[in-house]
Amino acid sequence: MQPSNVLDNASSDHRDLIREVEIGLLSESPSISPKFLYDPLGSHLFTAITLLAEYYPTNTEKDIFSCFETQIVDAIGVGGNLIDLGAGNCQKAESFFNSLKPSNYLAIDFSIEYLQDAVTKLAGKYPHINVQCMGMDFSKQILIPESIPEKNRVFFYPGSSIGNFLTSEALHLLRQIKDQAKGGGLLFGVDLMKEDSILKLAYDDPLKVTAAFNLNILNSVNSLIGSDFKIEQFSHKVIINHTESRVELYLETLEKTTITWPGHSRVLKKGELIHTENSHKYTTETISNLLDQAGFESTQIWTDPKQYFAVIYAQ
Ligand code: TRP
Repeated sequence: MQPSNVLDNASSDHRDLIREVEIGLLSESPSISPKFLYDPLGSHLFTAITLLAEYYPTNTEKDIFSCFETQIVDAIGVGGNLIDLGAGNCQKAESFFNSLKPSNYLAIDFSIEYLQDAVTKLAGKYPHINVQCMGMDFSKQILIPESIPEKNRVFFYPGSSIGNFLTSEALHLLRQIKDQAKGGGLLFGVDLMKEDSILKLAYDDPLKVTAAFNLNILNSVNSLIGSDFKIEQFSHKVIINHTESRVELYLETLEKTTITWPGHSRVLKKGELIHTENSHKYTTETISNLLDQAGFESTQIWTDPKQYFAVIYAQ
């Protein structure tokens, strides 16, 4: 039985995940959803990416959080109900616990297993905060349990994860958050558009940690659907798409290959691309417009001196 602070009512069922991967692999332009990047090894490789000097988003966001902590806490107000979207190890939210003093903290992530340990530790360390966790694919629908009071819900969405959605999907997510953040708001991070050379290095570092992270999605798919992807037949590829203002991540086949798994197969030509992730880059204007369209009435924006990244509180 699950402990009472663990809610797992909405994470996707195993068969749905298999079907989702199959649809992506069999479509004309093959793709694999980025959520399959984060198996246990992938989660560790992503942590390693965040430690690379070339991957500026994590450190820049952290610097903005610490430099403007007083202003951020003033804008939000203390004692609210903090809802962490994509909480992972919960470290970013925890860094605000002493200043924001939330009454309730709800950690949400795609995978509940990764959350449970972190949340158990937090509950022990902060006995005055009601700490809960929930497995949920919030990109579809956000369902907040009744145990979290409706008033003063502060959604926390750091790391520029909003950039991994298409603009229409980002708008859908922002509208849902706005509807549920009555009397509260949304504190989030967004990566800003910048020179190609900096983006290239951030998404294709010389140590090849990012390449390993992207390629590992094939291991993750092999164990999920029983396919026979061979890592050595693929390479990590980054395309900067200026028209769409985004970095696009792919796996490119180095030779013609046939991938098989129970009931299906897919031929990939040499040089064919499997899409794994989009990372949209905004400007302070384009993100403000999107927040406007989603119904937010006011926004406060903090950036770093190089204007690489922005932290926003929207109400
Ligand atoms: N959400 C992260 C980002 O867009 C994930 C990420 C970093 C990523 N490097 C990657 C995803 C390489 C796929 C491949 O910045």
